[in-house]
Amino acid sequence: MKIPWTKPDFWGNEIKYVTQALESSWISGGEYLNKLENDFGEILKKKHILAVSNGTTAIHLAFLGLGLKPGDEVIVPGFAFMAAANVSLLMGLKPVFAEVDPDTWCLSAKELPKYISSKTKAIIPVHTYGNVCAMDDIMEIANAFGIPVIEDCAESLFSKYRGEQCGTIGKISTFSFQATKTITTGEGGLVVTDSDDLNKKMLLYRSHGMDRGKKFYWHELPGHNFRLTNFQAAIGVAQLEKIDIILAERKRVSEEYKNILSNMEGITFQKINKDVEPVIWAIALKLDTKVFPQGRDMVIQQLKEIEIETRPGFYASSLLEIYEKHSLPGCEVISKNVISLPTFPSLKNDDIAFVCEQLLKLRKF
Ligand SMILES: Cc1ncc(COP(=O)(O)O)c(C=O)c1O
Repeated sequence: MKIPWTKPDFWGNEIKYVTQALESSWISGGEYLNKLENDFGEILKKKHILAVSNGTTAIHLAFLGLGLKPGDEVIVPGFAFMAAANVSLLMGLKPVFAEVDPDTWCLSAKELPKYISSKTKAIIPVHTYGNVCAMDDIMEIANAFGIPVIEDCAESLFSKYRGEQCGTIGKISTFSFQATKTITTGEGGLVVTDSDDLNKKMLLYRSHGMDRGKKFYWHELPGHNFRLTNFQAAIGVAQLEKIDIILAERKRVSEEYKNILSNMEGITFQKINKDVEPVIWAIALKLDTKVFPQGRDMVIQQLKEIEIETRPGFYASSLLEIYEKHSLPGCEVISKNVISLPTFPSLKNDDIAFVCEQLLKLRKF
């Protein structure tokens, strides 16, 4: 593709630090891992940071930490990347899919109460595309029912809500460092909490239920292996050193798209929630079918033919056959009409202009 949808950018000491990690012979645990966790502790101002193998195991660990059991219900948005829903199924939990706000495409606080039952054991707002859900409203409802909130921040690292880092409000928050994300370690992630008890449990589950401080090969609970490696953490440490430039370039990219496409007939940007300063992970637009009568999927195909790679919105949960049948018309409208455009820090303004020009050409009046 002439213009890919995403591309990782390595502008710092990634190669140097990975080499150092390999040469140190500490390739599983090690100093880079400790540094990555400490750095994020300072950034997020949270007491406990656990680096893990990816954003999905981060969610799995959060569920295990909360002691969720088969039959428990967890509320997840019906439009989002389905990691939390899928981990739920794998653990025998019941994902209860909720409507999202028609404009912000994030879990709707207004609709939330109707999905809560006596079996609800967690609410998982997913901060989609870099937006942040209306956390004040969600927390008010969750607290009234005494239900813990797990924030899925895989797509919203460094976005801010009311001036604070995203992922600092819920009981637990999870992050992803997968290849396309704001910073990457190839695959990787974080689980974050202020709770000593939750941290203690998640620490055990992360590594076979063993407490190395006590004795080797003694399993206190049936844990898993969700660990990140030291040489992956080395990439993360190097990326964090360049975070100012990464965020500035992401901001340039999203502002450039906004400058060109805002107020264009047939195109609606995802609305950013009030009180949010977003770090846009992926520029996402809703196409009006009157102006793009060929439909979103055909638009993706037409752009592909000129070597511009885009992505469709996530499939709404109600369209996916692996989940129990349910109906979420609001999520389906978003799902069928959203297109996400190339978004990465080194994307040039000329390329953005070209993508926009080509997209606008596909409109039919
Ligand atoms: C919202 C969301 N949650 C969780 C994940 C899973 O993260 P990972 O790919 O690191 O397992 C992703 C995607 O990667 C995501 O977009």
